[in-house]
Amino acid sequence: HSILILNGPNLNLLGTRQPEVYGPTTLADIEALCHERAKALGVQIAFAQSNHEGEMIDMLHGARGVHAGVILNAGAYTHTSVALMDAISSIMLPVVELHLSNIHAREAFRQKSYIAPVAVGQICGFGAAGYPLAIDALVSYIGKVQ
Ligand code: DQA
Repeated sequence: HSILILNGPNLNLLGTRQPEVYGPTTLADIEALCHERAKALGVQIAFAQSNHEGEMIDMLHGARGVHAGVILNAGAYTHTSVALMDAISSIMLPVVELHLSNIHAREAFRQKSYIAPVAVGQICGFGAAGYPLAIDALVSYIGKVQ
């Protein structure tokens, strides 16, 4: 199995970006956590980040035939992007929606997700620990549908 872990806008700044909300962990730390979990499960991962909506859509399209599923932290595009929602609907791959923070406990505009209706499920509120949890969830889901 191979899994794409795709991170959206501003997540490159983790560690220094609002640490009171998102924690002290950097994206490089998170990538290391993901590699550790993937190795333990015997799965391959590709880890990516983009600040550009169109580039994220291109990466989702490119996942077809390459990856068995996607873990997506779409950042603020979660709450705005019909285009990302349509991309997920189009690629026929299972997507796990992921957020560091509990978006349901924050501002009203963060409580709406365009990703949720087209995702297998959502993990949020566990900080960096959500990434390995999402890998577990996606691998378990893929195992069940095969
Ligand atoms: C986030 C939550 C979003 O509302 C926010 O815009 C982000 C990060 C999270 O991981 O908690 O950029 O996706």
